[in-house]
Order: sequence, then structure tokens, then C-alpha cells
Amino acid sequence: MLISLTDSFFVVFISLCSVSLQVAAQAIPGFSGFNYTYYGQPDFPAASEAFNLRYTYVPRLVAYPTTIEHVSQIVRAAYENKVNVVARSGGHSYVAAGLGGKNSSYVIDTQNFRSITYDPTSQTAIIGVGARLGDIIKALNQNGRALPHGTCAYVGWGGHIAFGGYGFTTRLWGLAVDSVIGVDAVLANGTVARASKDVNADLFWSLDSGVPFPCPSFHPSSLSFTAGF
Ligand SMILES: *[C@@H]1O[C@H](CO)[C@@H](O)[C@H](O)[C@H]1NC(C)=O
Ligand SMILES: *[C@@H]1O[C@H](CO)[C@@H](O)[C@H](O)[C@H]1NC(C)=O
Ligand SMILES: *[C@@H]1O[C@H](CO)[C@@H](O)[C@H](O)[C@H]1NC(C)=O
Repeated sequence: MLISLTDSFFVVFISLCSVSLQVAAQAIPGFSGFNYTYYGQPDFPAASEAFNLRYTYVPRLVAYPTTIEHVSQIVRAAYENKVNVVARSGGHSYVAAGLGGKNSSYVIDTQNFRSITYDPTSQTAIIGVGARLGDIIKALNQNGRALPHGTCAYVGWGGHIAFGGYGFTTRLWGLAVDSVIGVDAVLANGTVARASKDVNADLFWSLDSGVPFPCPSFHPSSLSFTAGF
């Protein structure tokens, strides 16, 4: 019932705005190696729907890169075309930040960046920004480890740490972002850069400060564990 109501609302919405969208949304010359969708494609309505249905922002495209080089390609195209670009991890932002929080963004969906690896020697993990909190809990728990973070299993790691990452262990262990020791990032001009307190320290400081940052197209994060149980 809810689904059919949602669908019909979306159809009405699109039919109201078809003229401007047909001009704005189209295939991007030069994009290759990954899937993306845009207005007029059959999968676009579902790909561009906000979690909070009060927000009906219409992105220019939703892309599903599989490598950081693909992300770089998309960010560079956005930079050259002067288009807002945003990363979407779980897509659960109540204000539709994962769609850019306004119309006409390039949305980089990070669902192909969901790997979680744990290295017992260094006691660190590398977690893709598209991983969900529930999957992270399970993967780390198999190794007897844990992190501070929120309680909704389906929330995506990238968006969660970009805003701090508050949860029931926070008074003991801090925010999720406090555990991050390194980030593979794509800069606004498409350059791929690693950042930690030793490498590109100023970039790391800006990504790790728990505030939304202008180009959150960042990638697998390394984590240290602040508590051992
Ligand atoms: C987004 O674009 C649609 C279609 O053009 C329009 O109806 C809507 O008002 C726009 N939203 C904002 C916040 O500009
Ligand atoms: C593109 O999407 C199709 C259909 O979901 C899938 O089979 C294919 O593996 C995807 N390709 C890439 C490069 O992600
Ligand atoms: C992209 O920006 C970085 C940081 O400002 C800079 O070091 C790099 O040279 C730039 N790359 C290009 C291709 O402009």
C-alpha cells in the first residue's frame, strides 16, 4: 500500500517537471566502466528516491562506481561541468543529503564499496564507505572487536562518520569518526589522495573533524580501535 502511494506520487512529480529535466539530464560522454542512471531511464525513479519522502530532489544522475578511479572520473566531470557532486552511502539522511540536499547533483552511490577487512596484527580495519553499520558490527564481532557508532543497522558508514557517528558507546569510546586513522579521498578536482595524521594532515583534519565537508567522495577508511572489548 505504502509503496504504491509512493510510486504514484513520484510519477506525478516527474510529469510536472519533465521539460526542464529532459534538457538537464543525459548521458555523460566519456563515462565508462561503471553503471549510472539518469532521468528517463527505467531505474532512475527508484535510484533517486529519498528515504524521507518529503524531499523529492532530482539529481542529474546516480552513478555506481566500483573503483576509486571511477569516483575520480565522476568528480572530475562534476568539477568541469560545474555540477554539485555528493556521495551517498546508506541514503538515510532525513534531509536527503545523499541526493545533494538540492536539485541537479551528481550522486555517487557507494554501494559497491562495502568491504570490511580486519588486520589482527595492527588491530585496524579497512571499511568501505558503503558498508552498513549492521554488517560492520558482525564483521568486527567475529574478531572480538567493536567500534563506537549508532544503532540503526542499515545506516551507511560514510554518511555516519561524515557527521560524527553518535551511539550508545559514545560516552566511553567517543564518536565513530574518532576511530578513523586514514582516508582515501577524491578531491574536488578528481585527484585521488590518501590522508592521515602523517600524510596530507590538513586534509585528514578537515575530513576527520566530524563536520559535513564539501566533497565527501571519500573511500575505504582505516580504523583504529580505542577499546579492546
Ligand atoms: C527541483 O526540481 C523540480 C523539477 O524541476 C521542481 O519541481 C522542484 O521545485 C525543485 N526543487 C527545488 C528545491 O528547487
Ligand atoms: C551494471 O548493472 C548490471 C545490472 O544490475 C550488473 O549486472 C552489472 O554487473 C553492473 N556493472 C557494473 C560494472 O557495475
Ligand atoms: C587538484 O587539487 C590538488 C589540491 O589542491 C592539487 O594538489 C592538484 O595539483 C590538483 N590537480 C589538478 C589536476 O589540478
